Amino acid sequence: MQTFTTIPEIRAWRKENQRIAFVPTMGNLHAGHLQLVREAKKYADKVVVSIFVNPTQFGINEDFADYPRTEIEDCVRLAAENCDAVFLPNIETIYSSNAQTLVSVSHVSQNYCGASRVGHFDGVATVVCKLFNIVQPNVALFGLKDFQQFLVIQTLTHDLHLPIELIGVPTVRELDGLAMSSRNGYLNETERKIAPQLYQILQNSGEQLSQGKSISAIEKNAITALTQAGFVVDYFNIARRDDLKIASDNDSNLIILVAAKLGKTRLIDNFVIENL
Ligand code: PAJ
Repeated sequence: MQTFTTIPEIRAWRKENQRIAFVPTMGNLHAGHLQLVREAKKYADKVVVSIFVNPTQFGINEDFADYPRTEIEDCVRLAAENCDAVFLPNIETIYSSNAQTLVSVSHVSQNYCGASRVGHFDGVATVVCKLFNIVQPNVALFGLKDFQQFLVIQTLTHDLHLPIELIGVPTVRELDGLAMSSRNGYLNETERKIAPQLYQILQNSGEQLSQGKSISAIEKNAITALTQAGFVVDYFNIARRDDLKIASDNDSNLIILVAAKLGKTRLIDNFVIENL
């Protein structure tokens, strides 16, 4: 596996290869990330992963400074997956001090995580656009755990006519249902025991929806159940899957989206309603 830190290096490597699949990450890799790498191999000759903790997608009171940085372990794991190349740029490589350009995807960035983390999706859209331009992949893979992020990236890829195929990969979970996340490491022992209830409550809500219960009643019950379990709910909404507009009772193609805090740890998850 080759590792690169500069743009000329990764561009030279890219030129030598025909079909590239790309997995952008912020590192501290877990089985969810590694699943993206495994999937990526199905789509291209060579797989490249980037590890870059992107400052512009963190709010001022968020965890940029504390975000776990484990590049050495990450590279060992990627090599074991037969990843072909890792791109590890530093901040100055990605953001020159006189940069003036921001990529902003309007509607789909507005609600849910976009409302509670102002500017977050502009940071994501901008860095993903930069990384796409640097790596120039044929295919890029993203996790559906971050469903809103996936739609933001799908929208920018379409709107900017980027010749990149996007693949969404289903959420990888711990045995007890908790969605894998680099932030799960922030949970203390008590919080870690409570955390799987997030997915249980999503699943129960999905069942209630399939049984025809009203959206507003399901949302209200879920927020009560989460609060009783010890979560501070940021949002719990049933939305239309294609544009993330709030669903009404006769809509189909739905997704339930949730973000909630356990102590200091913000967890997000979602549940796709397959049969409505
Ligand atoms: P990060 O949180 O490191 O996630 C990198 C990729 O792994 C994303 O596409 C994310 O959706 C996916 N992922 C994370 N947990 C997953 C899980 N449990 N199952 C499946 N996939 C999972 O998301 C980001 O980084 C950044 O916002 C980034 C896109 C790299 C831009 O900075």
